Amino acid sequence: MDMPEVPACLIAAAEIHKIVRRLGVEITACYRHCPRELVVIGLLKGAFIFMADLVRQIDLPLVIDFLGVSSYGDTALSSGEIHLTMDLATDISGRDVLLVEDIVDTGVTVETVRRLLAQRQPRSLKVCAFLSKPECRRVDAQVDFIGREIENAFVVGYGLDYAQSFRHLPFVGKIGLSGKK
Ligand code: IMP
Repeated sequence: MDMPEVPACLIAAAEIHKIVRRLGVEITACYRHCPRELVVIGLLKGAFIFMADLVRQIDLPLVIDFLGVSSYGDTALSSGEIHLTMDLATDISGRDVLLVEDIVDTGVTVETVRRLLAQRQPRSLKVCAFLSKPECRRVDAQVDFIGREIENAFVVGYGLDYAQSFRHLPFVGKIGLSGKK
């Protein structure tokens, strides 16, 4: 597989910081009357950097956990199938849960995982996504907090990958790929 060149910047680090700070304020306001610690669940691997920044902007008692899911394999083409690669260590029944996703594209991943978590009977369940591509939606996914909407482009950096590369970039960049969906 040919590796694309280093991507052009779409969202700079300073803008990412502002987005995450704003989300932190919104989430803090939403959960300020939570009876117990908020359970913040990150979807691996893509959400790991966003999640680390986000929890530091939430001014509330919270615990974190991660769910491992894979959907695309090592390409930019969605298979539409979600595989659970790692389950939670936390019992979320009766808890207030915030699911954290890197990017919502077709909506299949986040909606599948949201329904799976809903079966475990949390007290409440909301979804926060750093990015959303509304043009690409195929299912009606519930996303309660959105960092930024973007056009239909393949983006990398700030946790997002192409074939597992580029996750470490401190900005979000756009790479030129053809044939996605
Ligand atoms: P969906 O199920 O189509 O909404 O896809 C969501 C998942 O696909 C995300 O968690 C990402 O892992 C991956 N994904 C979707 N769009 C992009 C992108 O532009 N760059 C990198 N990964 C993406």
